[in-house]
Amino acid sequence: MRKLFYNIGRIWGVESVPLAYKSGNEMSVVDAVDNAWLLAEDGLIADWGAMASDLPAADQSLDCTGMELLPGLVDSHTHVVFAATRTTEWELRLKGASYEEIAAAGGGILNSAAKLRVMDEQRLYDESLERVLRMIAHGTTTLEIKSGYGLSLESEMKMLRIARRIGHTVPATVKTTFLGAHAVPPEFKGNREGYVEHVIDTMLPAVAAENLADHVDVFCDRGFFTPDETMRILAAADKLGLPAKIHANELGLTGGVQAAVKAGAWSADHLEHTGEEEVLVLRQSQTMPVGLPGTSYFLGIPYTPGRMLIDAGLPFAIATDFNPGSSPLCSLQMAWSLACTQMRLLPSEGLNAITLNAARALRLEQICGSVARGKRADFWLTRTRDAMNSVPYYFGVNHASQVFILGNLQ
Ligand code: NIG
Ligand code: FE
Repeated sequence: MRKLFYNIGRIWGVESVPLAYKSGNEMSVVDAVDNAWLLAEDGLIADWGAMASDLPAADQSLDCTGMELLPGLVDSHTHVVFAATRTTEWELRLKGASYEEIAAAGGGILNSAAKLRVMDEQRLYDESLERVLRMIAHGTTTLEIKSGYGLSLESEMKMLRIARRIGHTVPATVKTTFLGAHAVPPEFKGNREGYVEHVIDTMLPAVAAENLADHVDVFCDRGFFTPDETMRILAAADKLGLPAKIHANELGLTGGVQAAVKAGAWSADHLEHTGEEEVLVLRQSQTMPVGLPGTSYFLGIPYTPGRMLIDAGLPFAIATDFNPGSSPLCSLQMAWSLACTQMRLLPSEGLNAITLNAARALRLEQICGSVARGKRADFWLTRTRDAMNSVPYYFGVNHASQVFILGNLQ
C-alpha cells in the first residue's frame, strides 16, 4: 500500500543520511523541506520531495494543505501504568513538605504501590491504555513503560503484562522496563539488602523467563538504592541479556551517573544534580543523558542542566516521566517547551531531544526518531505554522491535528 501525503507546508526533521544521534552543536541542526510530499509504503517512509518535482504514484493520497509535518515523538521514560493520582500528597507538598520527606514517611512510590497492588488487572489496563492513547493524541508514537509500582513479584509481573498488552494493542512502538528496585516495599522494611537479593534472585529471572521486559531500571538515589546495589542488580540483568536504563541524580550527587556509565546503561535519566565529574564520565560513554523537565516543574526541584550538557559536546534527550506523583505529564510538546524555557535549549535542540536522541535512548534510532527513508512512517501534522518554533512557544495546548503511525491515521 502506497500513501502519498502532498502539499505539506514543511517537513521538519528529515534526514537524507540518518545519524544515530546528535550531540553538541549538531543538536541545533534540524533539516526541513518546504512545500513537500511524503510517500509511505507498507508503513515505512519510502521517499519525500518538493512539490515542484513529479509526484510518485500511490494507492491513496492525502492533501495536507495548511499543515506542517513533524517526526513522531519518542517518550523514552514513562510510568504510565499506575492506579491513582497522589493529589493528597500534592497538597502536603504545596504546604511545604518535600518529595523526600513524603517518601520517607511511607508515601510517594509506596503509596502508588499500595493502590496498584489491589487494583484489578483489567481495570488497570483500561485506565493505563486511556493514558497511552492521550499521549498518542499529543504526537507520541514510540514510548517506554516502566514497572515499579508493584514491588512484589506478582504485582511487578502484573504491571509488565499490562505494558506488553498495551504494546500489542496500540500501533505505537512500546518498550518495557523492569523497575523492581524503585523503592523498598513494606515487607522488606529495614531490610533493603533482603529486597535487593529478592530482586536479583527471584524477580529478575522470572521477568526474563516470561520475556516481559526489554530493559532494567533502578532508582539509584539518596534514600533509595546505592550505586553499589544498583551495579549488582544491573550486573544480574546483564547476565540475562537485559540492558540498563537508570534513574540517577534526581535528589543529589549520589554516584548514579557513574554507576550508569560503568554498567554501560543505554541512558541515565533525571540528572537534576550534575557536576563536572558527571559530565566527564558521560563524555567517555555511550550512555544517553535524559532530562525530565516535567518532574522539576511539578516537584519544584532544579532542572537538569541541559544547556551545560550540550555545550560540553554531549547528546541530550528529553522525556515526560509521566507518572502519578512527580510528573503527571503526558505531553512531550509541553516537555519540549519546558526544556526551552527552563533548560535553555533552542527549539531545534528540543526537537532532536524528543525525537532522534530519545529514540537513541531506547536504541531504536534505526526505526524511528526522524523522517528518513526506511524508518517507520510515524509522524504528526499540525496547523501551527513554523511548527518547530511555535509548538514549544505556544505552550499548554496540543498542536497535533492528526497523528499517523505506520502511515495510518490514529
Ligand atoms: O522518575 N524518581 C523516581 N521515580 C519516578 C516516579 C516516582 C514517583 O512515583 O513518585 C520519577 O520521578
Ligand atoms: Fe521516572
